[in-house]
Amino acid sequence: MAIDHVLKLYSETIQSPYLHYGFWDNPESINSDLLSIEEIVKAQERYIEHLSSFIPKDVNKIIDVGCGVGGNAAYLKEKGYEIDVLSPDLYQKEFINKKFNGEMRFYKTKFEDFKSDTTYDLILESESACYIKINKGFSAANRVLRDGGYLLAADYFVFNSNNQSPHLKSSHRMDQYLNAAKSSGFKLLKEYDQTENTMPTLDAALNFINRFVFPTAEYLQNSIQRKNPKTYRLLKSLLEKRISKKMDQLDLMSSEEFRKYRKYMIYLFQKV
Ligand SMILES: C[S@@+](CC[C@H](N)C(=O)[O-])C[C@H]1O[C@@H](n2cnc3c(N)ncnc32)[C@H](O)[C@@H]1O
Repeated sequence: MAIDHVLKLYSETIQSPYLHYGFWDNPESINSDLLSIEEIVKAQERYIEHLSSFIPKDVNKIIDVGCGVGGNAAYLKEKGYEIDVLSPDLYQKEFINKKFNGEMRFYKTKFEDFKSDTTYDLILESESACYIKINKGFSAANRVLRDGGYLLAADYFVFNSNNQSPHLKSSHRMDQYLNAAKSSGFKLLKEYDQTENTMPTLDAALNFINRFVFPTAEYLQNSIQRKNPKTYRLLKSLLEKRISKKMDQLDLMSSEEFRKYRKYMIYLFQKV
């Protein structure tokens, strides 16, 4: 993978050091119509604070797998952990090198292909587990962890796969993931369901799209149609199918739909 342009878009628009959903302490009291970017970034800080509370006491050396733009790594470094980072993404590599003045060891590779002379106490997969092939990911985790080392994964998993929802395409099935962990020699020490704590961010993103992106797109469409009907007809014939596919994927941004199929879990495993 050269560059994941969706993640790059999030990084450049929200301008947050994090690419995850954030964690809301009292989700039932949040009005997602009114959330500011500043509040979302605060929730993202709270997310790594909460996630890092799962790191066992005997951990010092961590590899942050799927490190994004380095917010989690910076937080953990600040807390005194020794930390290396990994991602297959070129934009993220350049971003991290700049952010840490070249002082953060960055492995540009998919985790599945990662080989290292260093062994780690803990692998962090913060919203990156769903990108990593299940069995190859656990094999790589076995290779790079010391005996008794840990894998801390936070991500969304499908628990209900009864139909053709797009939710089933972008996540691992929970039962498959947990079975693969077990058969690869990983014992589940802790689990935490943080679905409700993450949903306000999804609601805020959908509100934003409905309020700003759709009306702007409609305005542009009307404007082109009026001023340049030929170009409009050409664009329509070229893009109609793609746009309709993207609209179907908007289902992924509905928290109601999310809850039907997925749970956002924290899993702490130990290599036994
Ligand atoms: C949603 S972002 C999460 C970023 C960061 N961990 C965070 O919490 O802000 C997913 C990350 O996984 C990375 N990724 C995608 N495929 C991967 C793979 N096969 N192995 C390792 N990382 C991968 C992406 O490039 C990105 O850094």
